[in-house]
Amino acid sequence: MNTKNYRLIAVDGLAASGKGTLARRIAEYYHFAYLDTGLLYRAVGYEVLSVNGDISNPKHGLIAAEKLNPKNLNNPELRSEAASEAASVVATSPEVRMALLNFQKSFAYNPPDGKMGAVLDGRDIGTVICPDADRKLFVRADISIRASRRYKELRSLGLNAIYARVLQDLRDRDCRDVSRNMAPLVPAKDAFVLDTTFLDPEGAFRAALGYALF
Ligand code: DC
Repeated sequence: MNTKNYRLIAVDGLAASGKGTLARRIAEYYHFAYLDTGLLYRAVGYEVLSVNGDISNPKHGLIAAEKLNPKNLNNPELRSEAASEAASVVATSPEVRMALLNFQKSFAYNPPDGKMGAVLDGRDIGTVICPDADRKLFVRADISIRASRRYKELRSLGLNAIYARVLQDLRDRDCRDVSRNMAPLVPAKDAFVLDTTFLDPEGAFRAALGYALF
């Protein structure tokens, strides 16, 4: 445990592993502040697309990251597949990652609204952003299960998703997340690895609480 008088929980994991739902539930349970750090990368990717920039050009990503206004993180467009794809590309840029570092650290170490703790979910929370987090979870699930969850989610939103395409997108995203040079997706050495392949959201939450209970 760290020496702060509040708690910090890091939830990292693969795309569509259920980490977002899980992190939100843990935050609600403890009345902690919650930050979905993927939204920051989505906002940067979306901004680059909005100005017809090049998502693989680190300079374009950096300009967008420096302009980032956290008040705009509620934009539903950030949930789109286009924003998700763009996020995964801009996230490979060290410049973009550095530009987003302070906001994440400051949220984690000074939780807003006087909250007694914070839950951050992402890819590098337990390894880079909050290496001294009190609890670290690493969430994963079989890729075909993740693809079918994402496929159902897109269909339920009325989008015309194709399973094979969703599966391939996830493969590409996993590859970028795991193989980038800066802050690649890897479980922290002291993380509790939670495999949600055979767990529904309730089961994942119960399993996580079994580990993360204070
Ligand atoms: O969690 P998500 O699917 O919303 O994340 C979108 C992309 O952002 C993902 O492909 C990787 C990147 N990301 C990251 O590199 N580091 C984080 N802490 C969070 C997200």
